[in-house]
Amino acid sequence: MKKILVTGGLGFIGSHTVVELQQSGYDVVIIDNLYNSKIDVLDNIVSITGIKPEYHNIDLRNKKDVQEFFQNNKVEGIIHFAASKAVGESIEKPLEYYENNIGSLVYLLQEIQQHQLSNFIFSSSCTVYGQADELPITENAPIKPAESPYGNTKQIGEEIIKENCKASELKAIALRYFNPIGAHDTANIGELPLGVPQNLIPYITQTAAGIREQLSVFGDDYDTVDGTAVRDYIHVVDLAKAHITALERLLENNNKSNFEVFNIGTGKGNSVLEVIKVFEKVSNTKLNYKIVGRREGDITAAYADTSLANNELGWKAEKTLEEALLSAWLWQKKQ
Ligand code: WQD
Repeated sequence: MKKILVTGGLGFIGSHTVVELQQSGYDVVIIDNLYNSKIDVLDNIVSITGIKPEYHNIDLRNKKDVQEFFQNNKVEGIIHFAASKAVGESIEKPLEYYENNIGSLVYLLQEIQQHQLSNFIFSSSCTVYGQADELPITENAPIKPAESPYGNTKQIGEEIIKENCKASELKAIALRYFNPIGAHDTANIGELPLGVPQNLIPYITQTAAGIREQLSVFGDDYDTVDGTAVRDYIHVVDLAKAHITALERLLENNNKSNFEVFNIGTGKGNSVLEVIKVFEKVSNTKLNYKIVGRREGDITAAYADTSLANNELGWKAEKTLEEALLSAWLWQKKQ
């Protein structure tokens, strides 16, 4: 059994990826400092797969702990999720974001190099494109100046990895996620936002559950089908599966260059009002919402051209928006 390290493996996307890895026959070891996750997730993973992954409570900013981990563990691949991800918070605390997202990436890559490991998957984001000039967005679209320190850490992260792939034996794939949503079919794992959710889907489900009074729809004067902003919402289980195919591309030496980038989305754009309508249908509830002004920093529309991932990785999003929203709702109801 190949041993794979998943950093941030108790988080939203990390935990779903751990499940898919275990179900594909990998031995998983998780590093997570519980900064934005809960230890219960470990048992919830076991409730789905029947296998308890090895777990280390390590903060990747502690270089010594990272060194010690790699001295004691032999892994054949690394999927790196551990990072801070709140756009607004990153504007308030930029240094924390650079330390957490860049500092720990550097330590990790140093150990990977030291131990001559090579297969590295990086969580990147469609945020690197900003408002793209053309839709759907291909991987060749220009990288726009980052809107936030968070977005900048994803751009810089990709650059650091790319340069390191040139200078060493490292092989890496950056997956640029569009908007990950939903939860596992079992409703045993899902998204656990800290405090008031910033993202649309948890805000919708918490409003429907009575935790929030009303959803604010940020802007209805965009140049889109109905004036509300358009995004590419991808089911987290589809997204998790993309990590397995990317990892296997590296493990089997099928990569075409030592640093590759793939968009991971559905290829379809949906407006905020469309999402609300589909949510109301699948949950059989009426959502309390009102239209307010635009949110600063929001773009009009983003959705992926997924042909590169489809053709090169042999991966395609399979789940519909209905399925994703229903799974998010079932997860919310279970909380
Ligand atoms: C989606 C749409 C909002 C909340 C985020 C990150 C980005 C990347 C993808 C990781 C927008 C609208 C939202 C609400 C609303 N993530 N909205 N009311 O902004 O596309 O991107 O995920 O790298 O970096 O910022 O996602 O879920 O916040 O918003 O109307 O209460 O929903 O304006 O149009 P976003 P989101």
